[in-house]
Amino acid sequence: MPKIKSEEVGAFFQHYPKVAAVLTVSARDKRNAMAVAWHSTISFKPPLYGVAVAPKRFTYQLLLESKEFGINFMPFEAAELVASVGGSGGKEIEKFIKFGIAEEKPLKTSVPILQDAYVAYECKLVDNKTYGDHVWVVGEIVAVHCIDGVLTSKGTLDLNRVSPTLYLGAEFYITVDRKSVRLLDRDTYGRR
Ligand SMILES: Cc1cc2nc3c(=O)[nH]c(=O)nc-3n(C[C@H](O)[C@H](O)[C@H](O)COP(=O)(O)O)c2cc1C
Repeated sequence: MPKIKSEEVGAFFQHYPKVAAVLTVSARDKRNAMAVAWHSTISFKPPLYGVAVAPKRFTYQLLLESKEFGINFMPFEAAELVASVGGSGGKEIEKFIKFGIAEEKPLKTSVPILQDAYVAYECKLVDNKTYGDHVWVVGEIVAVHCIDGVLTSKGTLDLNRVSPTLYLGAEFYITVDRKSVRLLDRDTYGRR
């Protein structure tokens, strides 16, 4: 199939979908949450996680103050919560109260852990570097919260137990089709 080539990059969302998570912070008796789709594992040893946050976000101010953040992975049933915290500003409203967000106690930090999250990471800030209009925030994962039974014996998400929330762009959310799972081991497929 021929591809349309262009030097007009614009807002490049062609690489979506991406997992939509909720970034949580707490500082000065204030807590806040925002949706994030631009996030990634960076290193296993030490366990580092990165997220691109626009410096104008209220969340970023609290993150800089506390030097801690949480990354909460949400089931598709909680996609509306992701859209709510991604569509509102914490400077104006207390999102936890307005959207009735239930939290659980963290283990090693003071970041809010969302009760609806199937997995959540507590991170301590190790670096933050500005790239263009976002800051690449790097944290060391110091605690992991995981609902019992959501992972298979291989450590992958058990899609019979949980459907992750993915962001398609343009305010559309999707989840995965568990019938599409294929096991393609890299030894076999790397050598064929
Ligand atoms: C699905 C989704 C993903 C988003 N991903 C990011 C992101 O990765 N980085 C970012 O800075 N903003 C992202 N946003 C925007 C923020 O979540 C949004 O601006 C939010 O209102 C910021 O809240 P705050 O001002 O209380 O921090 C995303 C929004 C949505 C809906």
